[in-house]
Amino acid sequence: MIYIGCDHGGYEMKLALIGYLKENGFEYEDLGCGGEPVDYPDIAEKVCAKVLASPENKGILICGTGIGISIAANKIKGIRAAIGYDWYSAKYTRLHNDANVICFGGRTMGIGSVTESLDVFLHTDFMGGRHKTRIDKISALEEKNNV
Ligand code: RB5
Repeated sequence: MIYIGCDHGGYEMKLALIGYLKENGFEYEDLGCGGEPVDYPDIAEKVCAKVLASPENKGILICGTGIGISIAANKIKGIRAAIGYDWYSAKYTRLHNDANVICFGGRTMGIGSVTESLDVFLHTDFMGGRHKTRIDKISALEEKNNV
């Protein structure tokens, strides 16, 4: 299942990405906002709570730059949120980082390139192997630092 959310800076982009999800037959749930001013940490928290319910789940978060909402998401234990600033990053954050959330900037990124990034993010699996060791070290950092 894919969970998607945005603040007011990402609303238009979210509608476009929901169009992509529908056209491509993905099951998704939209967790807000509806275009009204909201605080991006609240949306990050809602989406990430749902993502954590299953390792198969993915999240999509959009704010004005993708930065604030990614910072907020990465404060939540078990979340690895990456800014998908291009196709290569979106692909490698799945292959190497096992990212479970991708973030975009509604005011800083173009919908064409973001749609391509989302497509590769949703179709790429984690490589495991030596990258699993590194992900385990990220999890250990969460324990050590009480995130
Ligand atoms: C909201 O105006 C804006 O600060 C937010 O969308 C985002 O860009 C924060 O990083």
